[in-house]
Amino acid sequence: MFKGRHLVEPGNFSIEEMDDLFRLAERIETEEGYLRESCRGKVLATLFFEPSTRTRLSFEAAMLRLGGNCLGFAEPGSSSASKGESLADTVRMVSCYADAIVMRNPKEGAALLASRYATVPVINAGDGGHHHPTQTLTDLLAIRRFRGSIAHLTIGFCGDLKFGRTVHSLAKALARYPHIGMRFISPPELRVPDYITEGPLKKEGIDYRETDSLEKVIGDLDVLYMTRVQRERFFNEEDYIRLKDSYILNLEKMKTAKRDMIVLHPLPRVNEIAQEVDADPRAGYFKQAQYGMYIRMALLASMVGSVS
Ligand code: NCD
Repeated sequence: MFKGRHLVEPGNFSIEEMDDLFRLAERIETEEGYLRESCRGKVLATLFFEPSTRTRLSFEAAMLRLGGNCLGFAEPGSSSASKGESLADTVRMVSCYADAIVMRNPKEGAALLASRYATVPVINAGDGGHHHPTQTLTDLLAIRRFRGSIAHLTIGFCGDLKFGRTVHSLAKALARYPHIGMRFISPPELRVPDYITEGPLKKEGIDYRETDSLEKVIGDLDVLYMTRVQRERFFNEEDYIRLKDSYILNLEKMKTAKRDMIVLHPLPRVNEIAQEVDADPRAGYFKQAQYGMYIRMALLASMVGSVS
């Protein structure tokens, strides 16, 4: 049912389809060698026009662990994009060499455009400040594993909610789950865009609130999703410097949080979570990154491999 489809934004998959992927990822995690041969003979292209560590490497690790192969670039300067080739032409060509394309690009809408020209499935690994649906699958799997289910939860999003694509995708996806509350914690300059609050959140009748104070709301949260201030999307360095340390989660602030609140972060972190928090049992971000590989294995096996 996933064959031949693109994943450009979280709304491309239904809740039931995402549940199937979570179950598959959980089986992959617990059953040694399960789906080891699922992508034998298949090739994944990873086209990264922007820096990445976890997303690219976890996709490549996922494909290799499923018995498939990878090709691609991590640095657009080494591709024909630097000679002026259009994205449409690049993905048309890469479709001849690979069975699926994972792409990260600084321009919003790039993944949608690529999906229109590619003749193989395109997976969006981040398009500018817009969406990052496989990080969302990772985040949802982490919430499900840490909290048991994705329902009856208050989620706090903290940091750069304007440019943080992981926030946009996760908020949009969570709005479809039952009894979810959201708290958006940011400086006024980095508020969550209206297309998220006025769009999916209004449509689903989500109880959401905006604040600039983490201290005021931390005690209400079941999940705290911290994010980095997205330096590369700022128009001037002064604004970045002024805003970059708006929120720093430390053990002092953790004292007022619920005992079972879980802290997530898509990583990389800069200063927004003090290292002292890493040893707190509520720090879920490194485990979350590990779930990223299992969910990407589930995704690739379902989209281009065989699952039995
Ligand atoms: C995120 C991204 O690229 O949007 N990183 C990731 O994929 N885990 C978050 C970020 O860069 O801040």
